[in-house]
Amino acid sequence: ANGAHVPAIVIGSGYGAAVSALRLGEAGIETTVLEMGRLWNEPGEDGNVFCTITAPDERSMWFKNRTEAPLSTLLWLDVVNRNIDPYPGVLDRVNYDDMSVYVGRGVGGGSLVNGGMAVVPRRDYFEEVLPGIDAAAMYDRYFPLAQAELHVNTIDPEFYASTEYYRFSRVAAAQAEAAGLKTTFVPDVYDFDYMEREAAGTATKSALGGEVIYGNNHGKMSLDKTYLASALATGNVTIASRHQVRAIERDADGNYALTVEHRDDANELIETKRFTCRHLFLGAGSLGTTELLLRARDTGALPDLDEAIGSGWGPNGNVMTARANHIWNPTGLKQSTIPVMGIDDWDNPEARVFAELAPLPAGIETWISLYLAITDNPERGHFTYDAATDSARLNWSAEQSQPSVAAAKSMFDRINKQHGTSYRYDLFGDHRAFADDFCYHPLGGCVIGEATDAYGRLNGYDRLYVTDSSLIPGSIGVNPLVTITALAERNLEAILAADFA
Ligand code: FDA
Repeated sequence: ANGAHVPAIVIGSGYGAAVSALRLGEAGIETTVLEMGRLWNEPGEDGNVFCTITAPDERSMWFKNRTEAPLSTLLWLDVVNRNIDPYPGVLDRVNYDDMSVYVGRGVGGGSLVNGGMAVVPRRDYFEEVLPGIDAAAMYDRYFPLAQAELHVNTIDPEFYASTEYYRFSRVAAAQAEAAGLKTTFVPDVYDFDYMEREAAGTATKSALGGEVIYGNNHGKMSLDKTYLASALATGNVTIASRHQVRAIERDADGNYALTVEHRDDANELIETKRFTCRHLFLGAGSLGTTELLLRARDTGALPDLDEAIGSGWGPNGNVMTARANHIWNPTGLKQSTIPVMGIDDWDNPEARVFAELAPLPAGIETWISLYLAITDNPERGHFTYDAATDSARLNWSAEQSQPSVAAAKSMFDRINKQHGTSYRYDLFGDHRAFADDFCYHPLGGCVIGEATDAYGRLNGYDRLYVTDSSLIPGSIGVNPLVTITALAERNLEAILAADFA
């Protein structure tokens, strides 16, 4: 059966894809977005589009029989995860040998499940990681543009200081400061005016009601409400959900031809379609984009793709850890799911760490301070194409996570020493204090300037582009969504000016 021929196709609908769709649509170019996940716009039987963290149902995860939450146990008890029916839920955990990667699935990609923390990287580190990109243009123009389009805002410090929902954060911040560490507010795309109404009892609770990794029913300005809504408003963009791109080839006339599976919510194949386009943008995320390109290169469909595809991957130095507070330092029954403060020790030459003060909205007092640390881990993994399973395998060993653990440990040892406290060993399914085997920030696989030119044009082919987190070589020092968005804005501007003449 046939899909359509369109001038441009965008694969995926996360940050890089959404920017591409909007700027193509604005330029008057008819564009189809193909997204394997669902369109999350209709309420279920409970009246909500998404389920909560505390009562996850089939909507929570992507075709699993049981949820796989990052914090899987409490006091080593298996009280967190729930059996669920397989369904195209909004959060996926892709399990490779020594590293699992959380990703969003649905129209909006990661923006549907993430914490919305919208941090511009330090300029010196950005220049270190991406020396081939004109930093002045990024910081003068594309970062501010991305922040405006994404509706980035910052919590009112008075609300932060007074609300019981951020006690967990104030406790952790005060302890870090007492240990001589610097703390800083973290901007977010969650609407803090809405959150204040939640706290006042005049709006339905979302961030203050335990919602985040399985989707927010209110308050969060995810991509479906920002870039993708604007893209659709141009009248030139169509989004096809539950459409998964399986293969990419190039026709004799130079068009790209895609094999696309349209499936229903039971994962039954409705139809295999063939779409063709002149310009193809890959925005399927670090895992998705890299897999599609490796498959195309190594099966011989696009044999001239660069050898560098698959390499330069990293988890942004992600490591999670938790501390046990003294009984006189409760962290609060009520906790907002949106982190708003971080410990910034990136200037420490021994161990560069930026750690978010993360909530643990358990509904009971836990005395736990939880952290997501972003560290400067120089290790890089790579993907290889496995013909037997027709999929990409991530080559990342447990030892490669050790620099992340060492850096995080040096920061939290310092806090524990100052306060006579210790780590929690009961939260990650075994007896580890540091969860270094999963990440939220997969970066790399099609690194800009290596597998592509300086604007994401893939080496070896024309009119073929990478536009997402796979461009960033493994580390950016902060939560990556603003960088992915701003880089896509920069690249699309150059591509539209030069390649659509
Ligand atoms: P992204 O991963 O967003 O989107 C890719 C899309 O492509 C997905 O919708 C996927 O279903 C689709 N796709 C994949 N393969 C396909 C195929 N073959 N055919 C069709 N569609 C396909 N970052 C941050 O800056 N601040 C934060 O607070 C957080 N917090 C956070 C929490 C959690 C739980 C997660 C999982 C992640 C975060 N992140 C984050 C990370 C952030 O969400 C992530 O870096 C970006 O979403 C990546 O954007 P991309 O554009 O690369 O793709």
